[in-house]
Amino acid sequence: MIYFVTGITGTVVPLIVEDLMKKDTDPVFYFALRKDTKGNGIQARFDSVVKSLDLDQSTKRKLVKNSKIVEINVEKDNLGIAPEMYSELIKNTEKILHGAADVRFDQPYDKIRISNVVFSEKIYSLFDEIKKFRKTHGKKEATLYYISTGYAYGKYKKPIPEDFPEFHPGKPDNTYAQTKAEAKIFILDKINRLNDRIVLFEPTIIGGAAKNGKTRTYNLHYVVFMLAYLGKLPFFTVNDVITEDIVPVDWVAAVISDIMAKDEYHQGVLRLASGPEAVPIRFMYEAGYDYYFKNDPVPGHKITKARIVPKWFLLFLLQFQKSVNRTLYFFTRNKRFRKLVKGISLMESYLPYIAGYKVFENEKSTKLIEKYTDCGTAPSLHDIYNEKGELVKKGYYNKIMKDTLETGWGGLVDFERLEKKTAAPCKAPQAAYSASRK
Ligand SMILES: NC(=O)c1ccc[n+]([C@@H]2O[C@H](COP(=O)([O-])OP(=O)(O)OC[C@H]3O[C@@H](n4cnc5c(N)ncnc54)[C@H](OP(=O)(O)O)[C@@H]3O)[C@@H](O)[C@H]2O)c1
Repeated sequence: MIYFVTGITGTVVPLIVEDLMKKDTDPVFYFALRKDTKGNGIQARFDSVVKSLDLDQSTKRKLVKNSKIVEINVEKDNLGIAPEMYSELIKNTEKILHGAADVRFDQPYDKIRISNVVFSEKIYSLFDEIKKFRKTHGKKEATLYYISTGYAYGKYKKPIPEDFPEFHPGKPDNTYAQTKAEAKIFILDKINRLNDRIVLFEPTIIGGAAKNGKTRTYNLHYVVFMLAYLGKLPFFTVNDVITEDIVPVDWVAAVISDIMAKDEYHQGVLRLASGPEAVPIRFMYEAGYDYYFKNDPVPGHKITKARIVPKWFLLFLLQFQKSVNRTLYFFTRNKRFRKLVKGISLMESYLPYIAGYKVFENEKSTKLIEKYTDCGTAPSLHDIYNEKGELVKKGYYNKIMKDTLETGWGGLVDFERLEKKTAAPCKAPQAAYSASRK
């Protein structure tokens, strides 16, 4: 099968490609990449992704041999792809996987729209050309696989329905959800009006792998865990109604790659959610502190538990802190205050995801997943299967938290620095984490 893939430098797509290398006997890839902001070119970026993949050396060599990398610029015509390459893509591509998106919650609408809406429209234009080419030449129809998100539904007072072919989003939580909803409306229209072969995937929140707890990016719940560990979460909100629908990245990749490689399901929406198995936020809160208390690698480091407050009070505190730090920055021009404002804004944008009512129906999708893939339901957040196939209660939790301590949240937390700080508490307080990530 010949694939055109976007998002290979991200969190989810590399795992899908790993799986396709095992599930498809003769995979050929075109990977769409752009230079990064540090000046790394597309070849260097691709090489480093290949190096990081969980594949043996001969499979990696096969992947490199069977891959072409395509430089793209979403803001240009035809994605900025050179004309000869664009024609080659139209002629050869059998399946498109559009997994690229800007997943940050704090971006201005006009900016994030380019990566999430304009990009999807241009991917569809390419798909449309492929479709026509294949029809004219009597070839098997192509399929477009698009990764949407359950959060495109925005604020919903009731459980979020599986309403395909309809879609009635609520008020968006942020510009990410807003632009992902716009892109979904655009894509659904192509299915409804033109009967196109398009499959949409709707993961909820993607967490570390069920297999080993590993993740490529430490955002959202990882940031909350990190702040709690560092004692920088003085207040938090939990209640018995709010649940976190988190699905392991390897399960998401397994479902998507099965759908693509088996080539039997070609139109519709698959919600990739825990549904009724989603974990209560109270459980996360307690299990998180319990684990970090017991396994703290920094001698003498004291983890202070957050004080539980109602959600409205937490919101008020965040806004108050933001105004204070903004004012302090205005008068002192000390960058620390600006960084704090950014951090608090990010926390605010996380709140609907962490403490908002989000319940995802997944009954229809579960049946489709059972029918069209070899995957069962999502391993729920607290239960996982170990290497012997035995169910381990709360095992997933321990795996992802073990990973945060082993990697220092992917390098965000410097344990040595934290240890020095712990040993010399009189020094001026400084953040023990060096960068804030998307
Ligand atoms: N992570 C989650 O919890 C979650 C949950 C539900 C749905 N999803 C969806 O799953 C998909 C993959 O998410 P992810 O977590 O893997 O995201 P990610 O780790 O942030 O990766 C995003 C990928 O998209 C690429 N990209 C973004 N804007 C681009 C642009 N303008 N031009 C070229 N490439 C661009 C990035 O390339 P660069 O490296 O060049 O920036 C990167 O490869 C997205 O569609 C997302 O909406 C994610």
